[in-house]
Amino acid sequence: MMFITLEGPEGSGKSSQLPLLAEFLRARGHDVICTREPGGTKIGDQIREVLVRMDNVELHPRTEILLFLSARAQLVEELVLPSLADGKIVICDRYGDSTLAYQGYGHGLDLEKLRMMLQFATNGLKPDLTILLDVDVLVGLKRKKAKDEWNRLDAYEISFHERVREGYHQLAAQDPKRWRIVDASQSAELVQENIRQIVIDAMG
Ligand code: TYD
Repeated sequence: MMFITLEGPEGSGKSSQLPLLAEFLRARGHDVICTREPGGTKIGDQIREVLVRMDNVELHPRTEILLFLSARAQLVEELVLPSLADGKIVICDRYGDSTLAYQGYGHGLDLEKLRMMLQFATNGLKPDLTILLDVDVLVGLKRKKAKDEWNRLDAYEISFHERVREGYHQLAAQDPKRWRIVDASQSAELVQENIRQIVIDAMG
């Protein structure tokens, strides 16, 4: 049983790396559940719709954060905790650290307040391992635009995304035991190799 999260700025490749990691772990005999945030449950996917719609320009940062936290609370209760209790490995594309990086470092909401809200939403559940796929902001945004996966949240100014990336580095530095950083500007194959090695090491 292990709870792994992938984090990173836009276009860092989390969503293409995650299924490859799952495949690798399954081949080694593990029972693996993959999920993503916001979303991952029926209710979470409905909340996700509100968050990513291009025309929801009125969405206030405080509303936004409550929606992220609502989706997360549902995910923890409905999927993550039961799966971990069954002895499975859960891999999640984004989790609480996204809130600290985006709403905290990005939008400038108070980090201590956010941590308290996160504690409430997750009932204190933290990942065992968090892998930061680190990539230059402009490179990442360009990748995302090229894949035509542009959404409301990507449209914030570059300095926002720079703060997010810098925030991730600070979070990783604050908790080096839980975090590992991968250079996501490398080829997808190399990134996957690094991720696999990190997970194997973490499993001991
Ligand atoms: P998504 O299309 O899933 O982006 P990505 O593939 O990069 O994960 O959209 C999720 C967006 O939501 C992304 O811009 C990050 C943002 N986000 C937050 O701002 N706070 C959060 O707590 C979470 C989970 C995501």
